[in-house]
Amino acid sequence: MGRTVFVNGEYLDEKDAKVSVFDRGFLFSDSVYEVTAVINQKLVSWKGHTQRLRRSLRELKIKLEISDEYILNIHRRLLDVNNLEEGLVYLQISRGVADRDFSFPDPVVDPTIVVFTQEKSLINNNKVQLGAKVVSFPDLRWGRSDIKSTQLLYASISKQQALDQGKDEAWFVKDKLVTEGSSNNAFIISKDKKLKTRSLTRDILAGITRESIIQFSKSQGYIFEEKPFSLEEAKNSLEAFSSSSTTFIMPVVEIDGVKVGSGLPGKITMDLRSLYVKNIMKELI
Ligand code: PDD
Repeated sequence: MGRTVFVNGEYLDEKDAKVSVFDRGFLFSDSVYEVTAVINQKLVSWKGHTQRLRRSLRELKIKLEISDEYILNIHRRLLDVNNLEEGLVYLQISRGVADRDFSFPDPVVDPTIVVFTQEKSLINNNKVQLGAKVVSFPDLRWGRSDIKSTQLLYASISKQQALDQGKDEAWFVKDKLVTEGSSNNAFIISKDKKLKTRSLTRDILAGITRESIIQFSKSQGYIFEEKPFSLEEAKNSLEAFSSSSTTFIMPVVEIDGVKVGSGLPGKITMDLRSLYVKNIMKELI
């Protein structure tokens, strides 16, 4: 028996968990998703994830009749049956199954819901001690990066190109300004110790981790600016980092071959990471 996976109301062994070849998520990437971190068999920042899920569904006009409570129960049951202590829960909702056609199915069909768990070390992530080396790429994604859709091919290709160059992560640049990473938000800390990250527009995903960092760092007295920054500014910053549900706060030590600060994970970044972990521990559900 492998993992138990949820598909359209059923809890199945992963080898029996199947979705139709006519699913619009498969044919058109017509689907949205969420990735929620798990610590001590509990969910991190759950409320933010459900709110963002509802927004993504609304923006793509995918009708989902089930309640937040039902979705939460699926997550909890999978954590329980799969005995997942630390890792993530992946949730994907597509517009559903219909003959292939660019127009949406009429009448509306039931969405396809898939939820599965995946093990991952989140708190003791070896990569954190080394920090990530970033390669920049032009941001050639579609114009609605604020929607958490499964249309991730450009992000995936860019990440792979960074890895093929012996680096770790891809950051995207639009009009000379950094938008975000392939699967994370981008931050810098200026030499006068101000934190900076791009403000929320259609160009970036409203990261749940990003929001937590802004809230707790402000309460700790850090000065925060939600403003775009250039690649040059990032290379010349004191420290840089990225944020996501699966990496929390990841120090960035190099951008396009240029060392950021000392070229080692920054002290403020590491302090913020410890604070972040402490903070989320208080609101696990
Ligand atoms: N990615 N920006 C992009 C493009 C992302 O894909 C993600 C998350 C983030 C950070 O969002 P959050 O803090 O809510 O995880 C920002 C997830 C982890 C993924 O696709 O696996």
